[in-house]
Amino acid sequence: MKSLVVRNLTYGYPDGRRALDGVNLEIEEGMRVCLAGKNGSGKTTLFLNIDGLLDGDGFISVKGMERSAESMARIRKSVGFLFSHVEHQFIMTDLLNDIILSVGDEASGAAAKKDIAMQWLERFDLARYADRNPLDLSTGEMKRAALAGVLARRPGLLLLDEPLGGLDRENGEKLAAMLRTLSTTMLIATHRRFMVEEVATHVAVMEEGRITGLYERSKALKRRDVRMLLF
Ligand SMILES: Nc1ncnc2c1ncn2[C@@H]1O[C@H](COP(=O)(O)OP(=O)(O)OP(=O)(O)O)[C@@H](O)[C@H]1O
Ligand SMILES: [Mg+2]
Repeated sequence: MKSLVVRNLTYGYPDGRRALDGVNLEIEEGMRVCLAGKNGSGKTTLFLNIDGLLDGDGFISVKGMERSAESMARIRKSVGFLFSHVEHQFIMTDLLNDIILSVGDEASGAAAKKDIAMQWLERFDLARYADRNPLDLSTGEMKRAALAGVLARRPGLLLLDEPLGGLDRENGEKLAAMLRTLSTTMLIATHRRFMVEEVATHVAVMEEGRITGLYERSKALKRRDVRMLLF
């Protein structure tokens, strides 16, 4: 089954700028696709459309659910979106309760939900911050906390917008190792070669509001246009 199909998607911001200009992209289940493209090429705008936060013209389906007014809530439930500015992701004033909010129907009852939330915090080495306001974490800790919250919802499709931003080398490597252990299909907007080498199965190239190619990782790393987009 295809996890994501985007066909001829266009989107213009209210000021008239055409940020997406006919995007076509198909992602098979289990693929981890790095989305490489210059600043302003439309990566974040594409993610916002896939997650239903913007409604460009064109076709989008997520896990077989075609985008429509009726399916939007279900699509949003199955998409996990890690923003590039993760401070916008937190709802509660303490980390544990924020994660608890993300734990869905897999646990019934407050105690069971709390246990699962604590396990996510432990997995991300954040248990000692359970009572802390998420906004009082360091950039890297905040990133890990936001990702824990996104994963706790057990999304079928993960959208990660520049997930290495603000992380030090050690935490960047930990994050990459953790992402590799997940079987979740993911689309990762990134400028980092490290992410492609360590996590991606494929690379998609975005230029001026379009996807201009989708390549298997080792082929992508041999391409000059791809290498020019990564550092
Ligand atoms: N809220 C907005 N209003 C108007 N134009 C916007 C808005 N957000 C983005 N744009 C424009 O849309 C285009 C695509 O931006 P987008 O943020 O999707 O790029 P990006 O590929 O994510 O870039 P980056 O690598 O810098 O994150 C850019 O020209 C940008 O200036
Ligand atoms: Mg962006």
